[in-house]
Amino acid sequence: MIKAIYPGSFDPVTYGHLDIIKRSCALADELIVGVLNNPAKSPLFSVKERVNILENVTGQWSNIRIVPFEGLLVDFANKMGANVIVRGLRAITDFEYELTMSQTNHILSPDIETIFLTTGLEYSYLSSSTVKEVAAFGGDISHFVPEVVIKEMDKKRGSIDSIN
Ligand code: COA
Repeated sequence: MIKAIYPGSFDPVTYGHLDIIKRSCALADELIVGVLNNPAKSPLFSVKERVNILENVTGQWSNIRIVPFEGLLVDFANKMGANVIVRGLRAITDFEYELTMSQTNHILSPDIETIFLTTGLEYSYLSSSTVKEVAAFGGDISHFVPEVVIKEMDKKRGSIDSIN
């Protein structure tokens, strides 16, 4: 049985993330999307808001759970009984960081394998920061994120403006 974890900040979730989620749901028996509560970052959305948004946009898949976490990823994976970590690779620039992270995680917990899915070409340029920046300047973000995210970002209008 493959129980996989797809971890990230998801601030906010984009179509690029959803592409990886959709394909991971097809590969794994169960997919846990791990939403990182990182005290070192100042996210636009609280971890609770990010979990709610993710639940809202992943309702079409039955083998998925959205779970917040903090601390080490491998500890979270072991706690959830997951044997696979999924990461998306958008471009060669992602590779070095992802390689280091997967090797570190392998030393920490050798039984957990990291697998990489290449992000769909149409989303290889995309990041959550790009979405926030375009929104801050009043640009159209409908190419990047689902309707639910647009609505939630509208509610944060003041906070997004202060990014710049
Ligand atoms: N499509 C679109 N964007 C994508 C993407 C995809 N398929 N994959 C990644 N991104 C973007 C994200 O939007 C994000 O953009 P941003 O920097 O503008 O916010 C960026 O790539 C990186 O995001 P993410 O994949 O969420 O990674 P992260 O760096 O926030 O967190 C963790 C990665 C959670 C896996 C890592 O920090 C972690 O494991 N932390 C726990 C602590 C730990 O165990 N550390 C030891 C490991 S070495």
